[in-house]
Amino acid sequence: MGKFSEYGKRITESKLTFFLNIISKKENVISFANGLPDPSTFPHKEINEIISEILTKNPNLALQYTVTCGPNYVKDAIIKLVKERGLDNITEENICITSGSQEALFVLFHLFLNPNDTIIVEKPTYIAALETLNPIGVKYLGLDIKNNEYEIDKLEEELRKEKVNNVKLMYLIPSAQNPTGLTMGLNTKKKIIELANEYDIYIIEDDAYGFLSFNDEYNFPLKHYDDTDKVIYVGSFSKILSSGLRVGFVIASEEIIRKVEGLKQNINAHTPTLNQLVAAEAIYRNIIFKNLPKIRQIYKTKRDVMLKAIENNFPENTICSKPTGGMFIFCWLENLVDTGEILMKSLEENVAFMPGKYFYFDESGFNTMRLSYSLPTYEKIFEGIEKLGKILSSLER
Ligand SMILES: Cc1ncc(COP(=O)(O)O)c(C=O)c1O
Repeated sequence: MGKFSEYGKRITESKLTFFLNIISKKENVISFANGLPDPSTFPHKEINEIISEILTKNPNLALQYTVTCGPNYVKDAIIKLVKERGLDNITEENICITSGSQEALFVLFHLFLNPNDTIIVEKPTYIAALETLNPIGVKYLGLDIKNNEYEIDKLEEELRKEKVNNVKLMYLIPSAQNPTGLTMGLNTKKKIIELANEYDIYIIEDDAYGFLSFNDEYNFPLKHYDDTDKVIYVGSFSKILSSGLRVGFVIASEEIIRKVEGLKQNINAHTPTLNQLVAAEAIYRNIIFKNLPKIRQIYKTKRDVMLKAIENNFPENTICSKPTGGMFIFCWLENLVDTGEILMKSLEENVAFMPGKYFYFDESGFNTMRLSYSLPTYEKIFEGIEKLGKILSSLER
């Protein structure tokens, strides 16, 4: 162990990978554990056409190194994309293209946080963000989500009590959150911006699911309401085009983008040129905008099937989120044992989910679970929830 740096010592096996490995070893499991996009949302034919055209017309551009934060042609496509999310006045200097939004999170967390700095995160939040933050040695302050409500007043109170000078950052997923599928209301968003300004805290806004909103009423990201450049916006092509292309991006002030560029250069020099060009063409050729209503419809129908199945099969006192978008439902089980133990029982019945406690920085959500509806068919969703319901009912005290 002595050979590793302090940071290296704090790197442990990912809980997500651990569970997904257990699940993948079993055959015929109905898995609500993975957060994989439904492959029918990928525009296969169009991506195929784009790649062959690029490699025919412009092979030397596509196969060559490029600049660290990506070519302006790709940045201009991203400017066009985020306009649809209500982000205006973005210039090429405000953008850095990354290898998925995961890289953006890694870079930003490492640029801002020292060991013992405090970061505000939702409770529960995205497991891989916690797994990126933990080895840095940060402390956490939670924005609790309970009974489908954001407890913003409690956070405000805690901020007033805390010695706030080492609260550096907030990491938030305000739209169609992973793991709850919930979206912050406008008042909560405005309060967050207000607190960020009052306490001089930067916000990393993870908008991975922002385009996957099921509501007709359009919900702008925090960045839309940010007049003081406190919000660093992180976007991704994973859920709107293809997750395997690994293209994401950061939008921030020029000063922050220069820092992102410096660190990214050290990690991978740049995101694969061909993949960036595919993402850009998918915007310029209107493929993403044309495909989005279909993607939203697929996930909305699956959400409805899962919610109905939960209503029919789960014990009555179970509280589950009603996602406004995205791919996940989160449940709070009352009077029940640890969902880690329930997982072991449900695996015997060939059903899998993610125990919710790993989405809590203090692992406090022992009685919670995340259910992903993105990948299984309607029939499998119904069958899996029915089986899970029987297990939960049999365990009720
Ligand atoms: C909230 C959230 N942020 C970021 C990511 C990372 O996505 P990617 O690196 O594919 O852009 C995910 C992936 O599932 C996610 O759920």
